[in-house]
Amino acid sequence: MALTLTTTSPDVSILHTPHSGPAQWWRNAVIYQVYPRSFADANGDGIGDIAGITQRLDHLRELGVDALWLSPFYKSPQADAGYDVADYRQIDPLFGTLDDFDAMAAKARELNLKVIVDLVPNHTSDDHEWFKEALSAGPGSPERDRYMFRDGKGKNGELPPNNWQSIFGGPAWTRVDQRWNASEDGIADQQWYLHMFDTRQPDLNWDNAEVREDFESILRFWLDRGVDGFRIDVAHGMVKAAGLPDWNGLTSMVEGTTAEGATQIKTDGTPNEDGGNGGGNSGPMFDQDGVHEIYRSWHKVMETYDGDRALVAEAWVEPLSRLAMYVREDEMQQAFNFSYLTTKWDAAALRTVINASIRENDNVGAPTTWVLSNHDVVRHASRMGLATGELNPNGIGKNDPQPDAALGLRRARAATLQMLALPGSAYLYQGEELGLPDHTTLDDQYRQDPAWERKGHTEAGRDGCRVPIPWEADSPAYGFSTTGQSWLPQPDTYKACAADVQKATANSTFSMYQRALKLRREHNLGLGSLGWVTEFEHTGEVLAFENNNIIVLTNIGGDAIELPQGTRVVLSSAPMHSALTVERDVCVWIVRD
Ligand code: NOJ
Ligand code: CA
Repeated sequence: MALTLTTTSPDVSILHTPHSGPAQWWRNAVIYQVYPRSFADANGDGIGDIAGITQRLDHLRELGVDALWLSPFYKSPQADAGYDVADYRQIDPLFGTLDDFDAMAAKARELNLKVIVDLVPNHTSDDHEWFKEALSAGPGSPERDRYMFRDGKGKNGELPPNNWQSIFGGPAWTRVDQRWNASEDGIADQQWYLHMFDTRQPDLNWDNAEVREDFESILRFWLDRGVDGFRIDVAHGMVKAAGLPDWNGLTSMVEGTTAEGATQIKTDGTPNEDGGNGGGNSGPMFDQDGVHEIYRSWHKVMETYDGDRALVAEAWVEPLSRLAMYVREDEMQQAFNFSYLTTKWDAAALRTVINASIRENDNVGAPTTWVLSNHDVVRHASRMGLATGELNPNGIGKNDPQPDAALGLRRARAATLQMLALPGSAYLYQGEELGLPDHTTLDDQYRQDPAWERKGHTEAGRDGCRVPIPWEADSPAYGFSTTGQSWLPQPDTYKACAADVQKATANSTFSMYQRALKLRREHNLGLGSLGWVTEFEHTGEVLAFENNNIIVLTNIGGDAIELPQGTRVVLSSAPMHSALTVERDVCVWIVRD
């Protein structure tokens, strides 16, 4: 197929014009997610820690990102890898101390990197002081009112208060006397408490004034320590519909929610015009209007600090017009774009989700964000190597169909180049710059994701994307720890991905990321524009857009494309066999000479 793109100016339909007005850092930042337990282990116990992050922070500078977001490092029994917080103002000894945190943040500042921390307000750990107080104070106490305790249904309260299911599988309610007993624990009443996730993650009651006040004080605690922002966990979950009505749907984090009464459906990655592709969470426990009041009050707290501090919503909400409500002018600054992450490798589908994302965010004056991987989904280098129809599995186990690794990486590199050229802010997950796949043959005995047990071993869960990352090909644990310990075993395939190999190899995935980030900055793409090259608007095989003076073209499953004379490829996701030929599953950045 020959591209007729004229060398002076291609035919484009403008979707988005360059950003004007104040250019706060978060409008175009590339933000690198550090998953502390798997980044770098300084003390050799096999679990990554904050001192390890500090030691390896130069890697982020070398890569060329603007900020890092750290998944939780707070005091926690680690029932959900730290998303079960026992004390929001302390660091878990597993990860270090507050001094270690301050040293890490100081080094980040020195390197000109912003720091975003994770805040988990929907639930605490059952080890949190408040929950312990709630248990011992008993039914009807003000201590219980900080959580969602209810009497059961049935003649003797033997049935849960409603039929909600936990996102990790099984009922969303646990009865107190089923977990504790009078003789050993001194607790034996028959109230039930709500936990949308694990039984060790009781949901807080956001109608309780003390809960609201304490979280504002937690925000201040970390803002005073100089953090630049917060990533808000389950930002769409804190307010539940009045009366907690029954609901027959079922929600999972990645696969989305079923319609009322239906059996589980998986998103097929094909978005509607509104950007929704089935990946959103709905039901009386999600996206209730009342949640916005919380963000309006947090916005006011953030505003009292200098330096454009930011709130980022982790909210699996569709359609995108509903998601955009979280980033209205007086609420948060950004929301993760999971509809983009769950869209299949198809030009028409991608064009639809990009259109809806930019349109809805433009409506409220917020930057659009882009993301392909994180600690909850199969890494895109593996996901994109799966046969169609298995788009967004919750983990890949050794007995599941295995991805085509080479195809996955080729597509992942193309998808990344495309993402990094889109206007707005982008999120990278540690290791993706090394071309890292999931561990897809992990032995089940190592699995730690609570969903693995709660779903009765029917889904592999999220351990495969959380395996410690490789730094040096020839060191124990590939340089992750000094002793060779690693809380999850690393697969042999990680050797070739090790950072030292990647950095020494021309055309490695790392060097592609590095070059993309440099060009993105030089051409100001993050604050740039988006115009579709109209020649391809109706094809499912090619996606082509222009941002400022760069044309970004991806061949998604079609015949090779011949670029016109007078154009020059400045970056390609795969080696090119001829200077102007773009093969299948390749993305190129082009300039006109
Ligand atoms: C979203 C987090 O990203 C995930 O890892 C966690 O399990 C749930 N929220 C519950 O906190
Ligand atoms: Ca450690």
